[in-house]
Amino acid sequence: MSQVVKAKAPGKIILFGEHAVVHGKTGIAAAVSMYSDTEIRPASHGFFFDNLGYKVICDRDDFLEAHETLRKGVSKDEFLSLFKSDRTIVSKYLIMKFLTEHELKLRPMKITIRSELRKGMGGSASINASLILALARFYKVTIALDEISRYAYAGDIICHGGMPSGIDNTTVVYGGFIKFNKRNGTAPISIKTKLPIVIGDTLEPAATAVTVPKVTEMLKKSRRHKALMNEIGSISIEAARCIRRGDLERLGKLMNRNQEILREFSISTPKLERLIDASLRAGALGAKLSGGGGGGIMIALARDNNNRKSIAKAIEKAGGKAYIVELGVKGVA
Ligand code: PMV
Repeated sequence: MSQVVKAKAPGKIILFGEHAVVHGKTGIAAAVSMYSDTEIRPASHGFFFDNLGYKVICDRDDFLEAHETLRKGVSKDEFLSLFKSDRTIVSKYLIMKFLTEHELKLRPMKITIRSELRKGMGGSASINASLILALARFYKVTIALDEISRYAYAGDIICHGGMPSGIDNTTVVYGGFIKFNKRNGTAPISIKTKLPIVIGDTLEPAATAVTVPKVTEMLKKSRRHKALMNEIGSISIEAARCIRRGDLERLGKLMNRNQEILREFSISTPKLERLIDASLRAGALGAKLSGGGGGGIMIALARDNNNRKSIAKAIEKAGGKAYIVELGVKGVA
């Protein structure tokens, strides 16, 4: 008989190179100390979900149907309408994908998923990584990190629509600081000095599904934007060196330049700008949006821990919600 099993995965922030990573350039992300977790316990019969407080009882056919529907691929709009009627559809799909690929049978269980992540922090990748590791533990299957990452990516394809770069699943699974390039591969970055980052949530939903095609269109039409995107790739490469040697001053400047370029792609918003401006006025070394943009979150690099508190206050005064987090935490476990 299976025991109660648990797994948790961190969220992530993108420090440099959002959007650029979609186009084969380098980006940098870090796992953050805010988590999602999954608990699976055996049940005598049936299937019970508590998915972020949304509770549902389902049967075997619901799992088969979710798998059948999503494995063919759906558009973002189709997904949103499916999700409206069943908020556990992606979990069911991934569970069936895992069981089919491992030639295992669906067993009665109760699945509880919790998350403290805000939009733009890799919530879907984090939830799905914790779900798959918990599931592997429930079935006593050994699973490698790259396999968990593959399932989390499959979940992100559905949740995000289109083809995400893979930076989210990679970061939440492996943890730490990641230099990511979907063509040239991924490498961990070792750090010398902790990065005193503050996350500012605009409390407006991130619009990644809108901003990704918008940026892609601009790149097709404009040489200037192509050159700017190349510059973001170079910024990320230099930033990885600065992170290694703990050069916070230079990192701040690189963040500001990265943000200037993102503005040229028209994916910043007045609220993001307000929080960025408030952070810089409070003494941040640099600040930029993080993730898809069009809302969502921004990040600011503080001079030290005291400065971090002042920046957090300034962000809240400007109408955002501030989070002081540790960066580079362990991945899924
Ligand atoms: O909005 P988020 O946190 O899911 O980040 C999106 C990052 C992009 O580079 C814009 C898209 C991607 O697939 O990497």
